[in-house]
Amino acid sequence: EGNKLWGGRFVGVTDPIMEKFNASIHYDKRMWAADIQGSKAYVKALEKAGLVTKAEMEQILEGMDKIFEEWSKGVFDIKAGDEDIHTANERRLKELIGEAAGKLHTGRSRNDQVVTDMRLWLRDGISTVTGHLLQLINTMMERAASEIDILFPGYTHMQRAQPIRWSHWILSHAAALCRDAEKLEEMSRRVNILPLGSGAIAGNPFNIDRDLLRKELRFDAISLNSMDATSDRDFVAEFLFWASLCVTHLSKMAEDLIIYSTKEFAFVTLSDAYSTGSSLMPQKKNPDSLELIRSKAGRLFGRCSGFLMTLKGLPSTYNKDLQEDKEAMFDSYDTVCAVLQVATGVISTLKVNRTAMEAALSTDMLATDLAYYLVRKGMPFREAHGASGKAVHLAETKGIPLNQLTLEDLKTISLLFESDVSLVWNYTNSVEQYTAPGGTAESSVRAQIQHIRDWLKPR
Ligand code: ARG
Repeated sequence: EGNKLWGGRFVGVTDPIMEKFNASIHYDKRMWAADIQGSKAYVKALEKAGLVTKAEMEQILEGMDKIFEEWSKGVFDIKAGDEDIHTANERRLKELIGEAAGKLHTGRSRNDQVVTDMRLWLRDGISTVTGHLLQLINTMMERAASEIDILFPGYTHMQRAQPIRWSHWILSHAAALCRDAEKLEEMSRRVNILPLGSGAIAGNPFNIDRDLLRKELRFDAISLNSMDATSDRDFVAEFLFWASLCVTHLSKMAEDLIIYSTKEFAFVTLSDAYSTGSSLMPQKKNPDSLELIRSKAGRLFGRCSGFLMTLKGLPSTYNKDLQEDKEAMFDSYDTVCAVLQVATGVISTLKVNRTAMEAALSTDMLATDLAYYLVRKGMPFREAHGASGKAVHLAETKGIPLNQLTLEDLKTISLLFESDVSLVWNYTNSVEQYTAPGGTAESSVRAQIQHIRDWLKPR
């Protein structure tokens, strides 16, 4: 037990199964850079507090730089007994510089160290995720701008509802992603709080300058309470929830596109680059990219709910259960990064079959417009809704499309119908009514695009 950080009071050896069960090095090594960054800042604070000499500080800093180099070159040697990344780096430091290494952990605990590392790591992670997300939003916005003149059926309850612009559909999904990006910005403020200097539970007894640590590590603020700081994983839970909500949004978009890409709809064709084939049926081209995006929402929610289950019922302060935070965080990060990049690829390479989209429009989808026609002639909407419903019924009984009803047919329902009713049977006229902000009229869709363009600019 000689090389354990905590070996002093132990006489017996750790059961090998326990050793493996307890270790987190195989995944928390991903935080090697953050761990080194944190240690370098900490030794500067130790020097300021007079706990290490300037020479010892230099030794430790140089040792840490050497370890950094080993990790970045992929030659850092993980040894048996390296329980976690903190243990591994400290063990290596001692091999490199000798006894002075033993001063680095003065007043520090892995409890404040690990959560500092995680906040540093996630801060970088969030900026990468934001980059992928903004790229996707930008791709969607550009696509909406270039295909603004394409109309197709909008659905509610998966039933044909009203004609809309294809761009309006794209922007409906982009709108949710913009909210996700804003949430991420708000969250990063809560991630960027420094726990280092909290020790194991009670705080730091050596007059460590926490504000120096904060500046060195570029945190916005320091944590308020050491007991809270060492066990607070709200930032992890928030990120897990964020990722599951964001990918839930994308699963909705994926589901729409899966339906639209069927031969029955044929509104869109997925690029070969984002499809796969069948090992049995030669004709198949399957939307696996979209199906996997849809499935990852489930995986992410599992990570989120699983981690909340881990937190539930824990007593105050650090408990080893908290070690479970990292795999959830890393896996959610990897998953959300992959999903965002694949979604960008799918959207930028998608082929839109304009003819099929427009052919799918039918005049029954203009029944609302027929009611609005009567409203514009002065009829109260409730009554107009009833009158248009009667027209739908009449057309159905006659077995003809709604727009094939003659003016005489319509006049049996309401005398307000005149020859200009023929203008109702036009899909462009239909969408162009929706000029209020947020609607599907061209001017309104252009305003949405401009809004997103302006929103993206400072980001
Ligand atoms: N590997 C541990 C974790 O990930 C580091 C903190 C360990 N602290 C402790 N008191 N055992 O949470």
